[in-house]
Amino acid sequence: MDDHNSVTLKFEARLAQVASELYDLAYIQVDANLSIVRVSPNLLSVLGNTDQVAAGIRLTDALDEFFGSEQTLRSILHNELPSFKIENINRARPDGSLHYLTFHVLPLDPDQTGSALLVVVEDVTRFGLTEQNLLQKRNELSILQGALSSANAELDRRVEQRTAELVEAKQKIELQLFRLQALRENDHAILGTTDLRVALRAIAEQAKSQLSVDLMSILVFNPPLLTLETVVALGAQSLDLQTARVNLGESMIGRAALDRRTLSFPDLTESIAIPQDDPWAQIENLQACYSVPLIAKGNIVGVLFLGHRSWLRPNQEWLDFLESLAGQAAMAIESIRAFEDLQRSNYELALAYNRTIEGWSRALDLRDRETKSHTSRVTETTMMLVRMAGMTEKEIMHVKHGALLHDIGKVGIPDSILLREDKLTDDQWEIMRRHPVYAYEMLFPIEYLRPALDIPYCHHERWDGSGYPRGLKGEEIPLAARIFAVVDVWDALSSDRPYRQGWPAEKVYEYIRSQSGTHFDPQAVDLFLRVITGETPASDPKINNLP
Ligand code: C2E
Ligand code: SIN
Ligand code: SIN
Ligand code: FE
Ligand code: FE
Repeated sequence: MDDHNSVTLKFEARLAQVASELYDLAYIQVDANLSIVRVSPNLLSVLGNTDQVAAGIRLTDALDEFFGSEQTLRSILHNELPSFKIENINRARPDGSLHYLTFHVLPLDPDQTGSALLVVVEDVTRFGLTEQNLLQKRNELSILQGALSSANAELDRRVEQRTAELVEAKQKIELQLFRLQALRENDHAILGTTDLRVALRAIAEQAKSQLSVDLMSILVFNPPLLTLETVVALGAQSLDLQTARVNLGESMIGRAALDRRTLSFPDLTESIAIPQDDPWAQIENLQACYSVPLIAKGNIVGVLFLGHRSWLRPNQEWLDFLESLAGQAAMAIESIRAFEDLQRSNYELALAYNRTIEGWSRALDLRDRETKSHTSRVTETTMMLVRMAGMTEKEIMHVKHGALLHDIGKVGIPDSILLREDKLTDDQWEIMRRHPVYAYEMLFPIEYLRPALDIPYCHHERWDGSGYPRGLKGEEIPLAARIFAVVDVWDALSSDRPYRQGWPAEKVYEYIRSQSGTHFDPQAVDLFLRVITGETPASDPKINNLP
């Protein structure tokens, strides 16, 4: 008998422990090249040894045991697959203990194909919520049930009351298993969406049915306004409750948030210390209500409010389950907000980079005595041509940055040479020819601009290998640079220089045509002439109609 009881107690303790720690997520953000861009600060605690998992390292190298193949990752990046999940991976921590991980791979922004991936790492060790663990628990339960039923024979000859206790214990365990499954479904709802409303509705629906109450609502804290705003309200009779906004510190809800403690009123008619006139209890005609603060990482993120139209007599399991649900709702709010912040800071960063690049580009034009229209004309023309050559939007973005900054290396060239109103001497020309290398030295250390280097570094290479700085030949020259070279020379020759007048359009096209296969890639010349002149014969006056 005592043995059976201790088995029951141990098992219950385990279930309680499982239910008390429900959520432990970390993430790894990966760029379109599958390189790690950012990891969440708690990655170490979730993943264990993270020496290899750091910004700049490719995901397939960092976690090659899980992501050895790029195929699936790329499918998700390009929206061919919505997401995928590697479940229940066991991994040894540095101290030798095993823990279980689930990896969920999702596109960071499903609307922007090919942009970035998010790898959500979930430590499921403590939850025991994986399919396999649940199965194992079912096995334990049936062993326990077997033990209990054989104990029943013995018990029958003893006290009837003891039998009833055991039956009750058995039912409790079954109920807990059922609730664990509900919590697990919530976890899936949270992971499957980045929409707070959807995640909280799933949690509220589970909570309302599992706790068997009439009313269940979740309010989210809005720190600047110091209000709690209803995101979901199930079972409310009054429409007011669906959109309620409560000030911090006011009513049962605002007070639970301010005081950071659960306000419990299992029977409002018996209680003296409670606000009988609380608008929520009144409007909804409640006889019992609980207001539970949602706290994540020490911060108030909302309140879970439940109500019932008759009194409640909650047992410990009910209260524990309520607490677990509140923990889950808090983590949902916290993790979805963190995800939104992450997305926002990505956009802000990209905007800041773009403004910086445009500022530099303008500064270069001013020093070079170029007009702004020169840089924007070559940039837009080049973008149009590479798009027609089949580049992806991401590649085109790098081409744009490269074109805007194509002569950034000229910041290393003294004014006496750059602004010279005459032909350059051999020595001066030697220095001028360094500008692509200066561009390489300036941009290479800037990770974000490294993919944009093709044009600044290679725009003076020539198809026949006679260009500079490296004397690259043919397709050794990046496509973007081959196309840009045509556009740059077209624009340079069409413009006045201190040392010569701009050429007429027809003379420029004739020159470009004459350099096809020597200075320029013949295909780049064909593409350029087809787009710019509409492939009309050289004598046709329409060629002057430049875009
Ligand atoms: P840029 O003026 O923007 O010229 C870009 C490219 O257009 C030149 O690259 C060249 O391929 C072509 N191009 C420009 N002007 C002429 C021209 O009058 N005739 C011919 N056939 N092609 C021309 P390149 O030659 O590598 O020159 C790079 C940069 O060096 C030029 O950029 C310009 O800033 C400077 N530069 C080149 N030649 C002279 C020069 O004689 N005097 C001065 N002051 N600067 C020069
Ligand atoms: C890289 O460093 O190759 C990636 C940078 C980016 O995608 O902007
Ligand atoms: C690029 O220039 O950005 C890619 C195209 C290529 O290098 O062929
Ligand atoms: Fe240049
Ligand atoms: Fe230029």
